[in-house]
Amino acid sequence: MESFTLARIIHVIAVILWIGGVAMVTTVIIPAVKKLKSKEDQIKTFEQIEGRFALQSKITTLLTGLSGFYMLYVLDAWERYLDYRFWWLHAMTLVWILFTVILYVLEPLVLHKLFKEYADKNPSKTFSFMHKAHWFLLVLSLVTTAGAVAGSHGWFFIK
Ligand code: HEM
Repeated sequence: MESFTLARIIHVIAVILWIGGVAMVTTVIIPAVKKLKSKEDQIKTFEQIEGRFALQSKITTLLTGLSGFYMLYVLDAWERYLDYRFWWLHAMTLVWILFTVILYVLEPLVLHKLFKEYADKNPSKTFSFMHKAHWFLLVLSLVTTAGAVAGSHGWFFIK
């Protein structure tokens, strides 16, 4: 059971670093970048910061997924996917899939190029869209985290 507890520790620390970083980008960095005077400064600053964070997030999402699936394996709790009271497990898996696809597939192949193109044409619209997208992912992640802490300690909200 020690390995299960170790997986839970890794899971929670990875989630703190990952979702905490999303909160920082959403509530501090994007608003600050939006206030920079020139379009060139906005694009350069955002790319430098988000680029470093993307690398960290790749590691923390990987650790979250590995430790999460390991806990499911140890608990032999795969049937939870068939029970709606475990909506928070569905939510955790959905958030994880969303970020994994964005970080490992969409960002390097499509989003990076699109961002440069649109930010160059219309910076304020592009940053405002990106800000909204970050808020959506942050709120979804926080609701998921609240549901996961409550659910894994026996408070299910739904009977
Ligand atoms: C494939 C992705 C994931 C899987 C398979 C997974 C699986 C699990 C499992 C099995 C538990 C323990 C449940 C129990 O003790 O009954 C857990 C706990 C938890 N997970 Fe996940 N998880 C995943 C992603 C995430 C994500 C994306 C977040 C945050 C946004 C998250 C946040 C948490 C939290 C906060 C706990 C509760 C820890 C505690 O209170 O001790 N997980 N997860």
